[in-house]
Amino acid sequence: MSAKPLVVENLTIHYYTLEGIVKAVRGVSFSVDKGESVCLVGESGSGKSTIGLAIVGALPANARVLSGKILVNNVNILELSSRELEKIRGRSVSIIFQDPAASFNPLFTVGQMLSDVIRYKLGIHDKEELKKKAIEALKNAGLPDPERVYNSYPHELSGGMLQRAAIAVALSTRPDILIADEPTTMLDVTLQAQILELLQELRRKLGLALVFITHNLGVAAGVCDKILVIYAGAMMEFGPVDEVLVNPLHPYTRKLIECVPRSSVRVGRLKYIPGSLPDLRKLPPGCVFAPRCEEAMDVCREEEPPLIEVKPGHFVACHKYKR
Ligand SMILES: Nc1ncnc2c1ncn2[C@@H]1O[C@H](COP(=O)(O)OP(=O)(O)OP(=O)(O)O)[C@@H](O)[C@H]1O
Ligand SMILES: [Mg+2]
Repeated sequence: MSAKPLVVENLTIHYYTLEGIVKAVRGVSFSVDKGESVCLVGESGSGKSTIGLAIVGALPANARVLSGKILVNNVNILELSSRELEKIRGRSVSIIFQDPAASFNPLFTVGQMLSDVIRYKLGIHDKEELKKKAIEALKNAGLPDPERVYNSYPHELSGGMLQRAAIAVALSTRPDILIADEPTTMLDVTLQAQILELLQELRRKLGLALVFITHNLGVAAGVCDKILVIYAGAMMEFGPVDEVLVNPLHPYTRKLIECVPRSSVRVGRLKYIPGSLPDLRKLPPGCVFAPRCEEAMDVCREEEPPLIEVKPGHFVACHKYKR
C-alpha cells in the first residue's frame, strides 16, 4: 500500500511576540489520502492558516514548531534543510489563499509569473514549451480565454478569474497536495460555487490530496470527505463529513452547525456563538471551550479532555464521552 500524501502528527506551533507566547496550534493530527479532501473548520484565530503554512513550509519567522511531524509523501518536512524544503514547496505541495492577488506580483503578467514558476520548479527552459505548459495550466483551471489571461496583468482580471489563475499557478507543477486557505471568502456567492466546483473537479481528475480551510461549516459540507473542527488551536472533533454533521459529538461542533445560515429558514438575524476565543497567550486550565460551553461540568474546567475515538474514525475531545 502506498503512503498517504499527507500525514500531520501531534503538531504544536507557538508564535513568539513581545506580548508573550501565542499558543496557536496544539497537538493537531490528521492525514489526507490521494483524492481525499479534509476541511479544517473553526472560528477566526483558531490556527487554521498556521497549520496550512506549516504544511507548505512557509511559517513566519517568529513561529516555532514545538513538536510533531508533517509527512509529505513519507518525508518529515520539519527535518529538512531549507534547500531540501524548497524542492518540496510548490512541487509536492501548493497553496492558494483567500486573496488571489497575494499570489501574484502586480508588475508581471500572469503568463510571466506562470512561466517563472514552471521554469523554476519543473526545470523547463524552452520558451515554446513553457508557454504551452502555462496555457494548458490556465485552460485546466477553467479559464475560457487562456491566451488573453496569459497576457494580462493581475489587476486586469476579475476576482474570480484571478483565483482561477492562482489555482493554475498552484497546480502547474502537478503537486500531490493542495492547501486551499479560504479560497472563496472574498468572492460573491455564484463565483464561490464555481470555484468550489472547480476544486472538486481538479481534485478528482488529478487525485489531489486537498486540505480545505474555512470558517464556514456549510461550505465544508459541500466539499469535504472529512472534517476537523478546531478551536483555539486544539482539535475538538474529527471524522467523516456525514458523521460529523449528522451526528456531531462536540458541543462546539453543534454550535457551529446552528450558525450555518439556512436559506429555507427565514431567520431574523445571523446566529453566532456568544463569547470569544480565549487569549492564546494565557489559556484557561481544562478544556479550552469550557468558558463558552453550556454543557460544561466541573471536570471541564480542570482537565484537558483527551481526543478519543468514539466510533471508528470519529474522534472527539470532550469529557462527556468516555473511552
Ligand atoms: N506571525 C504571527 N505572530 C504572532 N501571532 C500570530 C502570527 N500569525 C498568527 N498569529 C496568531 O495565531 C493565532 C492563529 O492564527 P491563524 O491565522 O492561524 O488563525 P486562523 O484560524 O487562520 O484565523 P482566520 O480565520 O482569521 O484566518 C491567532 O491568535 C493569530 O493572532
Ligand atoms: Mg486564516
